[in-house]
Amino acid sequence: MDDEVLVLQGLQRMLRPMREDWDMEFVESPEEALARMKEVSFDVVLSDMRMPGMNGAEFLSEVMGAYPETIRFILSGQVDPKLVFMCIGAAHQVLTKPCDPATLKSVVLRATKLGAALQSDTIKQIVGRMDRLPSIPALYVELVELMHDPEVSIDDVGTLISKDIAMTAKVLKLVNSAFFGIQRRVASTADAASYLGVDMIRSLVLSIHAFSQFESVDMEGFCMETLWTHSVQTAAAAKVIARVEGAGKQLYDDAFAAGMLHDVGKLVLAANFQEQYREVLQLIKNKNMGCCTAEQQVFGASHADVGGYLLGLWGLPAPVVDAIALHHVPDCLGQASFTPLAAVHAANALVHRTRGAGAGASSEEVLDLAYLAELGLAERLPEWIDAMKQKQT
Ligand SMILES: [Fe+2]
Ligand SMILES: [Fe+2]
Repeated sequence: MDDEVLVLQGLQRMLRPMREDWDMEFVESPEEALARMKEVSFDVVLSDMRMPGMNGAEFLSEVMGAYPETIRFILSGQVDPKLVFMCIGAAHQVLTKPCDPATLKSVVLRATKLGAALQSDTIKQIVGRMDRLPSIPALYVELVELMHDPEVSIDDVGTLISKDIAMTAKVLKLVNSAFFGIQRRVASTADAASYLGVDMIRSLVLSIHAFSQFESVDMEGFCMETLWTHSVQTAAAAKVIARVEGAGKQLYDDAFAAGMLHDVGKLVLAANFQEQYREVLQLIKNKNMGCCTAEQQVFGASHADVGGYLLGLWGLPAPVVDAIALHHVPDCLGQASFTPLAAVHAANALVHRTRGAGAGASSEEVLDLAYLAELGLAERLPEWIDAMKQKQT
């Protein structure tokens, strides 16, 4: 949808080769788009940002409310920081004009493939509508205080953000949107903070607070603080393992971010479906069921499926999304080399082994030794465990 007819015609021409695979419609106004969406369901909408009446962010907010499972992209020509936050809430991803056909095609294909593991439309709708995640209040307060310090260093900001699941996810979403014209993908919150700058982060931090609808996600057998601790430990362990394996910066950053975010799906499920999540915890406790098996039974999807779906929609780097989505079934990736997934899978299992059960932990948190053997990494295990121990002391 674009109010400029020439741009719209350009898009139409550019996407013509896709017409065998996609059903596409091109409209000139939000009103027209919304009227059409009433009649037919759309998997993806792609909208211009600046238009005379309703702007792109407002249009996508309406779409989010009425059709949350529809994937929402903004295609914008302007980089106006004020518009960034509006967009980044309502849009799953922000692309810049002009967008070459190959990029557009791959972004759309990637996003539409993500939901394959989710059988439930309810979950797709809930996840599609999520524009923020709960933060730990104490960490949030610390961050706000830090942001008020005029002498604050961008390094301190990056470090503090890296300790919070919600802030990490949000900052990586923002920095990986094409809006900022950063050519390479970013998985490190320190890099993200220095790209975005203190002012941008400050606005982001404050905008998150405006919607802290997730005050209490605590229930018996599930505690947000425990999940946080487990995530921080898994991230640290994944980083240690990546270092021992001599991984380069990109893989190292991916492993850390994915470790921090690997169980984000638990947060999404527990925050939105408290009753059903209680059922999951009961199945784990009383029937000794694995966490993913129990979630599968109750929701038709596991926390790994849900987390991978959300952060994939948000445009986080593919290796990070794969590591999140497959951390309990790593052999599904079919990649016979050391990846962020290998680091996170091992880190998660080793952290559970040494620290005991975390939030919603279960018998499933075990090392897939056959997978590690296939990667030729089985004999590396003692060295990883040693390095993890050294890190703690
Ligand atoms: Fe998990
Ligand atoms: Fe975990």
